[in-house]
Amino acid sequence: MNDLDALVDSARSSFEAATTPSELENAKARFLGKSGRLTEMMKGLSALGVEDKKIRGAAINQAKQAIEGALGARRMALADLELQSQLKAEALDVTLPGRRRGQGGLHPVSLTMERIELIFGSMGFEVAQGPEIEADWFNFTALNTPEDHPARSMHDTFYVEGGTPGAPNLLRTHTSPVQIRHALQHVKRHKAKTDAGQSMPEIRVIAPGRTYRVDSDATHSPMFHQCEGLWIGEQVSFKDLKVVFTDFCRTFFESEDLVLRFRPSFFPFTEPSAEIDIQFPSGPLAGRWLEVAGSGQVHPNVVRAMGLDPERFIGFAFGMGLDRFTMLRYGVNDLRLFFDGDIRFLSQFQ
Ligand code: PHE
Repeated sequence: MNDLDALVDSARSSFEAATTPSELENAKARFLGKSGRLTEMMKGLSALGVEDKKIRGAAINQAKQAIEGALGARRMALADLELQSQLKAEALDVTLPGRRRGQGGLHPVSLTMERIELIFGSMGFEVAQGPEIEADWFNFTALNTPEDHPARSMHDTFYVEGGTPGAPNLLRTHTSPVQIRHALQHVKRHKAKTDAGQSMPEIRVIAPGRTYRVDSDATHSPMFHQCEGLWIGEQVSFKDLKVVFTDFCRTFFESEDLVLRFRPSFFPFTEPSAEIDIQFPSGPLAGRWLEVAGSGQVHPNVVRAMGLDPERFIGFAFGMGLDRFTMLRYGVNDLRLFFDGDIRFLSQFQ
């Protein structure tokens, strides 16, 4: 092997040994740079005679081309390696499942409200709403519970600022004030539309919503949910209350054999009044009477507060605990779970 072949070999292996572009450029300088080994050889040409110079010059040129060829090949190889490692680093596994957007859902008590609206809707009941900060008159007085009435103490009330002297506003203790608000509106609308004497369409309404009392344990929360029901007409009777509420409960709990009991009770705004208990025919609660609603025939004083003549108009009202209905439907035994906001609990209802 002559000195030029040896030089080319040495250049090739130096280039192979370089693993980065900058190492390769350093190796290049050692052979082709200003004071590189090949350049040094070229400088040696000047000492030769004309013939020798030609031969030696051609050989050096060949060696130079070989070295440049090896350099170019290594440059491409390194660029390719770099690309490969970059591709590897940025690899995207398109077979991985995509990230889904978490789907929200309705709160179990909202599901109960929807269900109740649907069932009563099918029986011709409208849905009404009223304010949660209520005037004393709507919450108590119009419901036959005057200021000194002992029944006011059945409700441990959150009073708030505003209202009139001696009758501060309050967080409504039940949904019953919506009875009055809705009936007054209904009567007003009817009077505006028709000549006096024409018979008024029946009032048939439910009013679900939040209610508040100073109360807190496993089955009571200071904020809870009720749904009011009101049916007023000229021929409505207690029998209708029993049919409607029995039908509703059996549909709600999907149990045709559900038994209801109307137990005599007292409310200032109804007379007679009844507590409604239900009993499941089977399942873990079978055989127990469970109180789910208060009800009764609307008291004449309340009918009067609605702007109607109690000699002519009669009807019934009921108020049920939505949290209770939800607990019974899903078998939840602690009311507080509904309001803790724990996603592990809430997501079970979707
Ligand atoms: N408002 C009553 C309560 O909260 C329930 C009720 C409503 C009773 C309508 C009779 C008629 O306890």
